[in-house]
Amino acid sequence: MKKYNFDQLIDRTNTCSFKWDNVTYPASGMLPMPVADMDFPVAEEILATLNRLTSHAVLGYAIVPDALKLAAQAKLLQSYGWETELEWQVWIPGIVPGIAAACAAFTSPQDGILTAVPVYHPFHLVADWVDRPLFTFPMVQSGNRWTYDFEAFEEALKKGPKVFLFCNPHNPGGTVFNNAEIERIRELCAHYNCLIVSDEIHADLPIRPQSTHQCIKSEINFFATSKAYNTAGLAGAFAIIPDKEIRDAFIKKTNGFFPMLTRHSIEVMHTSLTMSSDWLDSLLPYLRANHDFLFESVNALPGLEMLPLEATYLAWISFDPAMHGDFQKRLFKAGLHVLRGEQFKGGHFIRLNFACPRVHLEKAISIIQDVVYAGA
Ligand SMILES: Cc1ncc(COP(=O)(O)O)c(C=O)c1O
Repeated sequence: MKKYNFDQLIDRTNTCSFKWDNVTYPASGMLPMPVADMDFPVAEEILATLNRLTSHAVLGYAIVPDALKLAAQAKLLQSYGWETELEWQVWIPGIVPGIAAACAAFTSPQDGILTAVPVYHPFHLVADWVDRPLFTFPMVQSGNRWTYDFEAFEEALKKGPKVFLFCNPHNPGGTVFNNAEIERIRELCAHYNCLIVSDEIHADLPIRPQSTHQCIKSEINFFATSKAYNTAGLAGAFAIIPDKEIRDAFIKKTNGFFPMLTRHSIEVMHTSLTMSSDWLDSLLPYLRANHDFLFESVNALPGLEMLPLEATYLAWISFDPAMHGDFQKRLFKAGLHVLRGEQFKGGHFIRLNFACPRVHLEKAISIIQDVVYAGA
C-alpha cells in the first residue's frame, strides 16, 4: 500500500487559493482554517490523470461517459448498499448550485425551505437567493453528539415548508445520522408532504470507523468525490433523483444556468471512484489523529468545548463569551482564521478545519491557548 506523507508542507499562497489568498488577510503570516478544503496534495492517481489531460492539451467541451456513470452506480452500491438506475443520475458542477436549483424548482415564492441550524451556510442563505421564506429548527446536544430536536423539527414541518434540506454527515458538528434518525426524518417529511433534498458530500470522511454512512434515499440526493479526494476546485458532483418527473423539473431549472462539466472534472471524478483505496486508507487515520489531538487540547482549556466528530474534518467548538469575548476576532488578530458560529446560525462557536499538516494544527492550538490565557 502506498503511504502518503501528509506532514509535507506545501505553500498554497499565491495559488488563487480561497483559503490562503484571502484578500482580507493582513500581508502575511495568517494561518487559515476556514473553508473546507485540505492542505494536502491529491492522490498520485489523480495527479497522473491531470498530467495526462494536460499533455493531451486540448480543452474542448466534454460529456459524461458511461464509464463515470457506471463507477458512480457501483460506488453507491458498494459503499452505501444503494441500488440505483443509471438514468437517475444528473451530473452537475457542484452541490451548492444543485441545492439552489432544487429549491427553485420545488417551491413557489410563498413556500418555505426548512433546515436544521447550525448548518453549512448555503443551506440557510439559499432561501434568500431564491426569495423564499426560511424555516429552521435547532440541533441539540444528546450525549456527546449533535442531533435534531425532533419535536422542534415536527413543529417546523407543521408550518408547511415544501423542501427540507438535509446535511448528512452534518456540517458543522460532524453528525452521521443513524438508521433510526433517518427513518424518523423520512416519516416526518412524508407525513407533512415535504420533499427531502439530501447533501451527502462528507459521506466518505468518517472520523470514527464505526460511523457508517446511511443514505436517506430521498427524492433528491447529492453526492461528490470532491471532499474526500480534495478536488473541490475542479467543480463536479452528481444528483440521484429516482422519480422522472422530479428529475425533469430539476434539470429544467439547471438548463442555461449550469455550465457543462470540464473534462478535468469528469476524469478526476472517474479516477477518484475507481482508484485504489490507498489515499483514503492513509488520509483517514491522519485526520483521526489530528481530530483526537485537537479534541484533547481544546477540551483541556477553560471555557471551550468540542464534541467528538463522527465525520468531517470541521471541528465545531463552543466558547464561553463571558470568558473569551469575541473569540473568533481575537484569534484572527493573533493570526488564526477560523469561521464564526454565526455564519452557520450557530451562536458562540467557531468552526476550525483541521485537514492540515500536524505542525499547522500545533501552531493553531498554540494560538488558541495563548488567546484563551490572555483573557478577553
Ligand atoms: C455540506 C456541504 N455541501 C456542499 C459543499 C460544497 O459543495 P460544492 O463545492 O460541490 O458546491 C460543502 C463545502 O464545504 C459542504 O460542506
